[in-house]
Amino acid sequence: MNVLGIFGSPRRGGNTELLLEEALRGAETEGAKVARLHLSDFAITPCKECHGCDTTGNCVVLDDMQKIYPKLLEADVVILASPIFFYGVTAWTKALIDRSQALWSRKYLLKDPSLGKEGKKRRGFFLSVGATKGPKVFEGAILTVKYFFDVLNADYVGELVFRGVEAKGDILKHPEALQQAFEAGRKLVRNP
Ligand SMILES: Cc1cc2nc3c(=O)[nH]c(=O)nc-3n(C[C@H](O)[C@H](O)[C@H](O)COP(=O)(O)O)c2cc1C
Repeated sequence: MNVLGIFGSPRRGGNTELLLEEALRGAETEGAKVARLHLSDFAITPCKECHGCDTTGNCVVLDDMQKIYPKLLEADVVILASPIFFYGVTAWTKALIDRSQALWSRKYLLKDPSLGKEGKKRRGFFLSVGATKGPKVFEGAILTVKYFFDVLNADYVGELVFRGVEAKGDILKHPEALQQAFEAGRKLVRNP
């Protein structure tokens, strides 16, 4: 089973990175083949809304996103980790999601069977943290991620989100959070 971990924070060694590494470690202990994608290592232009993909299912922008499309499609499980930036996912993550419009076109305009009911079924899981404790802090991001996973033909399995986590490494003060991430990674592989 191919598990793709997408790191949406530009802060290396930060809270979502620690959580995602635990989830991937859990997946690895169950025998999954794990790939890592640190979005801040890639240059991903935001979607230009040119509708170039409407008729081809391919994005006309020839940047690093071209390397990422195949990785998304190879994955059986996608674990996306993004902290909350202004009540949404980070711009790095949002650029990736918006550029997945090419896959949306494949699925919904061109009716590509590989992304339809008969196509490969994937599963998606979301990890996030936010500094504040507001009840709605994760709502926007969860909705965005659900629609991203839909485009990948990935069932939204669930999320693990933690409030009040701000400074780099704050999540380490919550060992139960890391344990939960590890278990989530294991379960994603164990219960296909
Ligand atoms: C540009 C920016 C915007 C942020 N916006 C929010 C926000 O709207 N709500 C919130 O709870 N935390 C917000 N935060 C705090 C981060 O979510 C928090 O520091 C988190 O732990 C960062 O995760 P990381 O270590 O994985 O990068 C923001 C941080 C930055 C840098």
